[in-house]
Amino acid sequence: MALSPLLPLSLLLIVSFITNNKTLAGDPDIISDFTVPQQTNNTSINGSFFTYTGLRGLLTHRPQTPQTSFKATKVTMLEFPALNGQSISYALFQFPSGSINPPHTHPRASELLFLLHGSLQVGFVDTKRGLYTQTVEAGDMFIFPKGLIHYQYNPHVAHATAISAFPSANAGTVSLPISLFGTGIDEVVLAKAFNIDVSTVKKIIDSVNKS
Ligand SMILES: *[C@@H]1O[C@H](CO)[C@@H](O)[C@H](O)[C@H]1NC(C)=O
Ligand SMILES: *[C@@H]1O[C@H](CO)[C@@H](O)[C@H](O)[C@H]1NC(C)=O
Ligand SMILES: *[C@@H]1O[C@H](CO)[C@@H](O)[C@H](O)[C@H]1NC(C)=O
Repeated sequence: MALSPLLPLSLLLIVSFITNNKTLAGDPDIISDFTVPQQTNNTSINGSFFTYTGLRGLLTHRPQTPQTSFKATKVTMLEFPALNGQSISYALFQFPSGSINPPHTHPRASELLFLLHGSLQVGFVDTKRGLYTQTVEAGDMFIFPKGLIHYQYNPHVAHATAISAFPSANAGTVSLPISLFGTGIDEVVLAKAFNIDVSTVKKIIDSVNKS
């Protein structure tokens, strides 16, 4: 019996359905209202457990102690245990003049950036190597799609402050400079990957480890 000419197509559809379902998956759903850390006496849980105060005082236009480099303050389920199971987290970003948040990805979440003060140049690269850039002003939002490489840059004199929401309690961050040049990958591998000599690789490694 001849195989239906549609068989390869239907196999492809099944495979892409399965793969798509995986891609759509976020944090696992919980089947209780909320989760508390193990060893916690549940009867001692009150409103304080659902409150995070660690960002108090950080939203001012000019930080009290002027910084010279970019600073990210994450509020994930590690800092704020009540987020465990709620599929959401925040980060606060402070950009002194001229600073960058270097190219990185979040393997488990998209990122919705909301600029509070200043102006930023932002961009991401999709899987077809398309670059999407924008200048965002205070009050603007920008969405970085899940898993794609992106960056932010404050080229201005004024300080910039942003918060980002992530649809994961633990979005994860893979910073490209440190992941590639600060983790002990064989220098020959890096030299071949970037088509440069090993002495240049060593210089980049030194510089990444110092920053
Ligand atoms: C606390 O509650 C969770 C579920 O809400 C339960 O799994 C856990 O066993 C409880 N812990 C104690 C010490 O009662
Ligand atoms: C849990 O907390 C309640 C109220 O604070 C207290 O009465 C109870 O003894 C505690 N249980 C344990 C196992 O520590
Ligand atoms: C709420 O819980 C926290 C930590 O367990 C405790 O320090 C605080 O006194 C509690 N507040 C009230 C109003 O019970």
